[in-house]
Amino acid sequence: MEKNMQKACVIGWPIGHSRSPLIHNHWIAEHGLNARYDKRPVRPEELEDFLLGLAGMGLRGCNVTIPHKQRALQIVAQTNPSGLSPMAARLQAANTIWLENGKLCAGNTDVYGFMENFRQSCPHWRARDQKVTIIGAGGAARAIVAGFADAGVERITLANRTVRKAEQIAAQMDGPIHPQGLESLPMVLPETDVLVNATSLGMTGQPPLDVDMTALPAHAIVADIVYAPLRTQLLRQAEKRGLNVVEGLGMLLHQAVPGFEKWFGIRPSVTPQLRHLVEEDIRQSC
Ligand code: ATR
Repeated sequence: MEKNMQKACVIGWPIGHSRSPLIHNHWIAEHGLNARYDKRPVRPEELEDFLLGLAGMGLRGCNVTIPHKQRALQIVAQTNPSGLSPMAARLQAANTIWLENGKLCAGNTDVYGFMENFRQSCPHWRARDQKVTIIGAGGAARAIVAGFADAGVERITLANRTVRKAEQIAAQMDGPIHPQGLESLPMVLPETDVLVNATSLGMTGQPPLDVDMTALPAHAIVADIVYAPLRTQLLRQAEKRGLNVVEGLGMLLHQAVPGFEKWFGIRPSVTPQLRHLVEEDIRQSC
């Protein structure tokens, strides 16, 4: 059994918090595979050796999380320049690594994960004429900007505490992106159809993201990338105001789908059972 076992893992530093093993091992059991997915702490200085040694360790690939997403992309680009997915190359960050003919390949499934969750949560949403406001300008914000820009929205306001970082994203990425400081939010919110929190604010142990929900139009959608707690204060306030909300957990579940398919050859589904399993785990830790 162990000899023919298909293996994959998630790497990060630290890695203790990761729910990826719960998700992938659920799918492994569901499909009756002789496979295992675990988490491995990898220090930044060990990253290159780890990725170059994947095949030797019997691994089909791995997910990559903080702080390795950008460096992992550079390592794959150096060893196999044609092994980057267009999205990973565009975002200059990788979260999924696999082997093709023994060569390292890198993808970025965060955009897919966010947009798939968003579309499933709001099936009637159409990109045409939509004005989107994204708060934050880190890696997650970059992926969400790419998703809405590709969907064809009319305007993306990128509001960040450090305006320079929002300006960098606007300069590097295609799309109708307007960088702003957080102080511009009162002016922007009445014109916002979709508001997204792409910062870590609202996460357990962090201060909440304080946004005046009454400034948003009554048809607005509010999405959060934070999933612990499952319902952030931002989402609870939006619901109180009667707005549609999109939880962050769905992004985590959907971004895992393409990696599982690359490593194990089966495209898994995000089912209510899987969602329940991960929700319970998050509830216990919050
Ligand atoms: P990730 O890659 O997960 O998106 P990140 O690159 O650390 O993480 O980005 C975190 C985001 O949260 C940034 O936009 C950060 O704002 P700055 O660019 O000004 O640092 C934002 N953020 C974190 N703490 C914040 C706070 N207390 N107030 C406002 N924004 C905050």
